[in-house]
Amino acid sequence: MGCKAHGISIAGWIFLKKRGHWMSKTVKAVYPGTFDPLTLGHENILVRSSRMFDHVILAVAQAHHKKTLFTLAERIELAQMALKDHANIEVMSFEGLVKDFALEQGATVMIRGVRSMTDFDYESQLAGMNRLLAPEVETVFLNPEAQFLSLSSTLIREIASLGGQVGAWVSPCVETALKEKCKRS
Ligand code: COA
Repeated sequence: MGCKAHGISIAGWIFLKKRGHWMSKTVKAVYPGTFDPLTLGHENILVRSSRMFDHVILAVAQAHHKKTLFTLAERIELAQMALKDHANIEVMSFEGLVKDFALEQGATVMIRGVRSMTDFDYESQLAGMNRLLAPEVETVFLNPEAQFLSLSSTLIREIASLGGQVGAWVSPCVETALKEKCKRS
């Protein structure tokens, strides 16, 4: 066959594509959470994920299960500002089951950060249930870098509300937003 794409014949390309071996297959991942607010620990997981997958969606939960300091619109805006330099990271909101959101977006990977054995127990259970609900979505656990292992959004909010410095653990836009919020409340 005379017609070739990237050195592979059309027949070969169709064969590889049918077998799922075509190298340009796009892998989309979702990284869900409340992100109240996004911390450098979350960003660490996200940026490393963006090197492994073609497209990563930071899925900001409406979070009816938690009383949040920042509204959903604020959490999204802060994440967009903090992540503006990463072309393959997108910020979206979701409501309902995270597996439904992943399937709607065509994602085949769900990323979760695991900071400790306690996280691991809970995350294993969550990953197990999500696998039963949507076997086509694979959960991938990433361990944050050492300086972020003790971090949580609750601790960041608490330190900021009591006048402590949080600049080492959040992006500058998040630090400014926390200062503003704490001044007003
Ligand atoms: N760096 C810093 N902090 C981290 C972190 C990291 N790498 N990874 C997790 N954390 C923190 C989070 O900031 C959060 O802190 P907080 O509790 O102080 O706010 C805490 O660890 C827990 O994080 P997480 O487990 O992601 O909880 P969450 O509330 O942010 O998100 C959802 C949970 C929204 C992803 C989950 O409830 C969900 O999927 N809900 C939709 C309903 C659903 O599908 N349920 C599953 C059924 S099987």
